[in-house]
Amino acid sequence: MALSKISTSYSPSQTLKTNLYSKPCVPLQGYDARRSGVSFEPHRKLRITCSVAPNQVQAPVAPVVPSDTTSSRDCYGVFCTTYDLKADEKTKSWKSLIKIAVSGAAGMISNHLLFKLASGEVFGPDQPIALQLLGSERSLQALEGVAMELEDSLYPLLREVSIGINPYEVFQDCEWALLIGAKPRGPGMERADLLDINGQIFAEQGKALNAVASRNVKVIVVGNPCNTNALICLKNAPNIPAKNFHALTRLDENRAKCQLALKAGVFYDKVSNMTIWGNHSTTQVPDFLNAKINGIPVIEVIKDTKWLETEFTERVQKRGGVLIQKWGRSSAASTAVSIVDAIRSLVTPTPEGDWFSSGVYTNGNPYGIAEDIVFSMPCCSKGDGDYELAKDVIIDDFLRARIKKSEDELLAEKRCVAHLTGEGNAYCDLPEDTMLPGEQ
Ligand code: LMR
Repeated sequence: MALSKISTSYSPSQTLKTNLYSKPCVPLQGYDARRSGVSFEPHRKLRITCSVAPNQVQAPVAPVVPSDTTSSRDCYGVFCTTYDLKADEKTKSWKSLIKIAVSGAAGMISNHLLFKLASGEVFGPDQPIALQLLGSERSLQALEGVAMELEDSLYPLLREVSIGINPYEVFQDCEWALLIGAKPRGPGMERADLLDINGQIFAEQGKALNAVASRNVKVIVVGNPCNTNALICLKNAPNIPAKNFHALTRLDENRAKCQLALKAGVFYDKVSNMTIWGNHSTTQVPDFLNAKINGIPVIEVIKDTKWLETEFTERVQKRGGVLIQKWGRSSAASTAVSIVDAIRSLVTPTPEGDWFSSGVYTNGNPYGIAEDIVFSMPCCSKGDGDYELAKDVIIDDFLRARIKKSEDELLAEKRCVAHLTGEGNAYCDLPEDTMLPGEQ
């Protein structure tokens, strides 16, 4: 199979048609490079052709769609023609198709995640899905490569794949939005700069979700700094409930469970009630006070309080950084797994008495945490995609002081992005030690 071509002009005569690739591709609108590549430029067209070369073209099986036909996004290759879900729904009792948008779709995390989504391990073996993949102009070739690999994997549940670089098209009607794409902090870049650059991306994507996504879309923000990015995103999407936005702290929860299991000499499935409080940064608080091993409080199983307060806590806070030193890049596979875990925690009932961690919008929380920020807290779900905050949580002075530090950091981040949340002029007084888990 030949690689698709990318061109900036669209000509209907170039449309490729085969038995498999019968639906012509439609123009996409592009981003320009101004303002860190996040501004939407509606006039410039950018087109993706289908995944066959002209000399492979066979007899047409479908009429050519004129170039001015509007489409929400560009279906990809085989997914343009094999969609016949109605028949499959009848014979296989499948659920109705759900639409999942993924940004940063050509990146390393997505490269693990997309294949898990397509295999059925996330939403179940009776849940067909559509993947709506958002990339950037720079990553468009790679994004086509991803779509080609999805084609070649022949996943029965994967009914549609579309790719594009305009969030207003790619997010159309999506019921899940997994926002992974963000810029990493570069050499010499201040953290305030990072907040601003990524904040602009998430402000734009929040607006796009607000305009075109399902009114009940669930949004998981992964791109760092994910808590504040999630806050910016939700503030720019006033028509979507703020409760539907999450910042991914499940990776931190998994890391904390692993460290406790290791210390206690048990398998990690014996660790429950693991809360990560606060920011996905080095101020995050892995809560050993409420966590349990085999249903017994961790502090009764691991008597080494000094280890819990120092080594354990720091190991979890800085795990991302240690991993970068070993790998030479950020965690990808374990992040993808934790996104799967985060989704599954929302679509399956939480085991009785247990909870999971997620960065959620603070609006009437019972723990005394400042309102109007995105803060990781313990959550329970009935499996309907929604969650409630966990009850029966103890907070002692030690935990309170740690939580406060993360809260202060998030409040400072919020002041620093006020220009992106509609709250006036930004004022950046970030604490000096504010760092992502990967920064050391
Ligand atoms: C992680 O926790 O592994 C990442 O968020 C690290 C980072 O800073 O990119």
